[in-house]
Amino acid sequence: MRGLNTILLTGGAGFIGSSLARHLLAENDLTQLIVLDKLTYAGNRAHLVVPEQDKRCTFVQGDICDLALLERLFNDHQISGIFHLAAESHVDRSIAQPQEFITTNVQGTSALLEIARAHKLPLLHCSTDEVYGPIRSPEKAKEDAPLLPSSPYAASKTAADLLCQAAFRTYEVETIITRCTNNYGPRQFPEKLIPRFVQCALRDEPLPIYGKGLQIRDWIHVDDHCAGMIAAWRRGKAGQVYHFAGHRERTNIGMARSILDALRKPHSLIQHVADRPGHDERYALDTEKSLMWFGWQPKVNFQTAFPEVINSLVADFTG
Ligand SMILES: NC(=O)c1ccc[n+]([C@@H]2O[C@H](COP(=O)([O-])OP(=O)(O)OC[C@H]3O[C@@H](n4cnc5c(N)ncnc54)[C@H](O)[C@@H]3O)[C@@H](O)[C@H]2O)c1
Repeated sequence: MRGLNTILLTGGAGFIGSSLARHLLAENDLTQLIVLDKLTYAGNRAHLVVPEQDKRCTFVQGDICDLALLERLFNDHQISGIFHLAAESHVDRSIAQPQEFITTNVQGTSALLEIARAHKLPLLHCSTDEVYGPIRSPEKAKEDAPLLPSSPYAASKTAADLLCQAAFRTYEVETIITRCTNNYGPRQFPEKLIPRFVQCALRDEPLPIYGKGLQIRDWIHVDDHCAGMIAAWRRGKAGQVYHFAGHRERTNIGMARSILDALRKPHSLIQHVADRPGHDERYALDTEKSLMWFGWQPKVNFQTAFPEVINSLVADFTG
């Protein structure tokens, strides 16, 4: 079983990273947490509320592509492992301007793998269901399904996954890849579907739905995802891929209606707009392997957690 000790967490000021920081700090064998984040438009240092109160946590503003900085962090803190979450993460932005996605998601991951190789560190790479491309209902992708990314974002994450697998095979770097479906939770940047629709609804502005809104996404609470990553770290095998999913499939238009219902706003606010190019109809992941290997399954109850998340987003936007 892998321990935690001193962890470098990349992307810890982002949506999932800031939740993972809280989860890691709740683990007894974590002695130090170094959070490295560039603070792009998507990063928010204020999201690291708990870590700033916890003396075990140090925040460093910097770029994962900066090898000299990574080397300095390793020497200063004797890091024992890396949780790699930093990424450019928004599909629409990747379609408009793919280059930054290649730089951060591909070159940045490669830089971290160099450090992991040089210092023999395990590295967990947080990846996505989007690497498989569309999955036809009722199938669910297994970990060895073909990688067929559609968007530049998904392609850059796929490239990063493959670099992790190559580092394992060629240099025996202990890489673990986790792939997860759509996360919902507090503190998400309002360009992603749920916070964006909450923000639009609060302003009585139209909720833009791509095409007919029939694309299907699976939704998992961010706490279940974080618990999964820590379980994969502790009990996952190097070189392997593990899946996390909420097993809560919703169409995008169904999600928009649920948000409007929760906020007591009319469905007439939904506005259909031209579909996103290369828009995948459905993502779905099989999670049997994570259940078998480390007993992981989603625990958060959607019926109670979803309204709580909506309320916390409302508080963020109005408070
Ligand atoms: N959000 C989801 O539903 C979801 C699902 C599956 C996988 N993932 C993956 O989880 C990870 C986190 O996603 P998120 O939704 O929290 O993203 P996010 O956009 O909210 O946060 C990304 C963070 O990375 C930081 N960052 C960006 N470029 C950087 C760089 N060059 N150097 C250092 N820091 C940099 C940003 O400042 C930000 O704090 C990503 O790797 C993403 O691909 C996300």
